[in-house]
Amino acid sequence: MKPPERFLTSRLVLRKPSIEDASGIFREYAQDPAVTKYLVWRPHRSIEETNTFLEQCLRNWEGGHDFAWVIESKEKAALMGMIGLRLEQTGANLGYVLAVPFWNQGIMTEAVAALADCALDQESIFRVWAVTDVENGGSARVLQKAGMKCEGILRRWIVLPNISSEPRDCYCYAKTR
Ligand SMILES: CC(C)(COP(=O)(O)OP(=O)(O)OC[C@H]1O[C@@H](n2cnc3c(N)ncnc32)[C@H](O)[C@@H]1OP(=O)(O)O)[C@@H](O)C(=O)NCCC(=O)NCCS
Repeated sequence: MKPPERFLTSRLVLRKPSIEDASGIFREYAQDPAVTKYLVWRPHRSIEETNTFLEQCLRNWEGGHDFAWVIESKEKAALMGMIGLRLEQTGANLGYVLAVPFWNQGIMTEAVAALADCALDQESIFRVWAVTDVENGGSARVLQKAGMKCEGILRRWIVLPNISSEPRDCYCYAKTR
């Protein structure tokens, strides 16, 4: 699968990031503990950390298995968040993050639904899935609204360093064809 570097939904532009996005990502959400609470990375303390993250994103694009897109509003070209897709043999795993001012407007549901459908349109992809902490109610709701089914709880699945050093329970959601 070679996903598009840029695609559109009704309100959003999803595009491959560039190094110039570091300041926007750092400013809008990467340093915000409210945003990173349920993520696998700690809040960035300096823009250098955001630069390093973006360099890795761009190397991942070259690697052909791990892709991330910046989410912008079509109207204002304002950077709102990011969404990523990691390809496996016959499936793809989703992850996503949005800056607080854009929460609860259906933004991530729109992005997740579009990316899941784009992935499932590929001949080799039969399953798109995501995990979310059992206490991250907003994220679970996004996956439901995007048409994914809850398959159960993965016990002690993932360490979320902003909450605990012990692995936590996650819901697993998937959409298949
Ligand atoms: C989780 C996140 C992506 C949601 O994005 P969003 O664009 O606000 O999501 P949407 O607006 O599409 O949908 C949110 C839904 O969750 C609901 N919701 C919000 N907070 C909730 C909570 N604590 N418990 C239950 N539902 C909640 C909203 O009411 C809405 O549902 P509704 O449309 O039925 O009213 C965003 O809050 C975020 O980036 N959080 C930090 C990073 C993160 O947790 N990423 C996911 C890691 S798995």
